[in-house]
Amino acid sequence: MRHLLSTRDLSRDEAIELLDIAEDMADVQLREVKKLPTLRGRTVVNLFFEDSTRTKVSFEAAAKRLSADVISFSAKGSSVSKGESLKDTAQTLAAIGADAVVIRHGSSGAPLVLAQSGWIDAGVLNAGDGTHEHPTQALLDAFTLRRRIHGRASRGRGLDGVTVTIVGDILHSRVARSNVWLLSTLGAQVSLVAPPTLLPVDLAAWPVTVGYDLDAAIDADPDAVMMLRIQLERMQAAFFPNSREYSRAWGLDDERFARLRADSIVMHPGPMNRGLEISSRAADSPQSSVLEQVANGVSVRMAALYLLLSGEKGE
Ligand code: NCD
Repeated sequence: MRHLLSTRDLSRDEAIELLDIAEDMADVQLREVKKLPTLRGRTVVNLFFEDSTRTKVSFEAAAKRLSADVISFSAKGSSVSKGESLKDTAQTLAAIGADAVVIRHGSSGAPLVLAQSGWIDAGVLNAGDGTHEHPTQALLDAFTLRRRIHGRASRGRGLDGVTVTIVGDILHSRVARSNVWLLSTLGAQVSLVAPPTLLPVDLAAWPVTVGYDLDAAIDADPDAVMMLRIQLERMQAAFFPNSREYSRAWGLDDERFARLRADSIVMHPGPMNRGLEISSRAADSPQSSVLEQVANGVSVRMAALYLLLSGEKGE
């Protein structure tokens, strides 16, 4: 694997290989010394043009636990036009000797541009591009689901027959897009539930079923519900009347949470708007995998960096 830009182009075998390597990385996290020498002498640059807490910290931890040198850039607020600033930045990173670039960018497709540009000869990892994709988030979600469902017997397996309902702001969500492709590649059945205004228009090509009624979706007894953040920063218009209306119709509130099967998994990529798309009782319950998702993110990103960087130069 040269780059990790989307989950849409990952095969089932590739996805399972990555998840299996992430299991090995998770084992390392249980040791007293959590570090492997695998990427010693390699340089990983975190290039974040958009805000992030967990993704940035997680990639940084992952690279450091593989002994890479890590440089973190917050490129937000640059006044140069986007194409040029990306080119200049990429050439600067190439001059520094970056072996991998982890990029988060507000424009869909920016990581692909970087990977194909020739400005830099480095592995590119998409850490979220606009409303397009966020592949490592979907991989950590799949990893979390697989562990919850198959436990110690996870290795080598997909998510065949697992039912996952993704709820909320699908329109603006790169997490939803990456999950739709990856989970269905792994054999899961994905359904989307959202107000019609927060669904994309081009859904015909997506391997999903679509509904508008969260109560009906909960009564259908899914193995997991993935609540998405309402992305107010990407909304230039009113997509729903007000937050109270939204949470009444599409929020996982205490009442809906109580109706979920006791072993249904409650997921959220974070950051959460507590009380809007998810109640605190649901988010902090044993059924919630929110913090497991964050912890598993490090293992999955270690696996991705390993696949992109190990043994391809030098060694
Ligand atoms: C997501 C993102 O940035 O796309 N967050 C994350 O990476 N954990 C989802 C979001 O911002 O709502």
